[in-house]
Amino acid sequence: MQIIKVNTPEDGGNEGVRIISNALKNNRLNCLGLATGSTPITLYQAIIAQHINMQHVVSVNLDEYVGLSAKHPQSYHQFMQKKLFDKVNFKANYLPNGDATVIADEIKRYNDIIAKNPIDIQILGIGENGHIGFNEPGTSFDSKTHLVDLTANTIKANARFFENIADVPTQAITMGIQQIMAAKQIIMLAYGTKKAQAIANMIKGPIVENMPASILQNHKNVIVIADGAALSLL
Ligand code: F6R
Repeated sequence: MQIIKVNTPEDGGNEGVRIISNALKNNRLNCLGLATGSTPITLYQAIIAQHINMQHVVSVNLDEYVGLSAKHPQSYHQFMQKKLFDKVNFKANYLPNGDATVIADEIKRYNDIIAKNPIDIQILGIGENGHIGFNEPGTSFDSKTHLVDLTANTIKANARFFENIADVPTQAITMGIQQIMAAKQIIMLAYGTKKAQAIANMIKGPIVENMPASILQNHKNVIVIADGAALSLL
């Protein structure tokens, strides 16, 4: 894993754009895997500020809550719309449909989308428990798109976006670990001391399903963009 230490999340966003722009210039970016949450916001701001042309790029997102429609203010559809898609036109944007009537059909649809659009660069954040996407500890490294029960920790961490913790959905549809690992390049972003333990386990801990991000040690092209606080336990 290559580690790029940055001073601020804004610098991290600019570093991410530098890598994305290089791939675009070399015609190596047809499909960009995207994440939600606080961490990638500065990357999306930098993509917007630097007017990166994404019109030939398809995006696929990692996950979506079950039970929230694409119009729900806390849905990941809305998050992506507000943080990026309103300002930057892509060739197409794909996210799981958390509001699907038959989840099994939606999982198949999403697996087909990922199969048809091999991911060139996948953007990741990391959960304090080491989750990537919504692949919680214990998820099989062989997993594809699947339905997950969110852990109490993740629900608590995500409650900050909702009025009330009881409003946080308890399930999500997430891209699987096998599909994340199939991306040609992975950019892991992490800022702040809250992420330090997970980042240390990811980089130098044992590769175990109880620490989902540890599988990234087996990937040939991972770039970790992180600040000193997130790297402090290495
Ligand atoms: C979001 C996602 C999650 C987040 C992780 C960190 O699409 O897949 O794995 O990346 O929960 O979230 P933040 O960035 O809010 O700390």
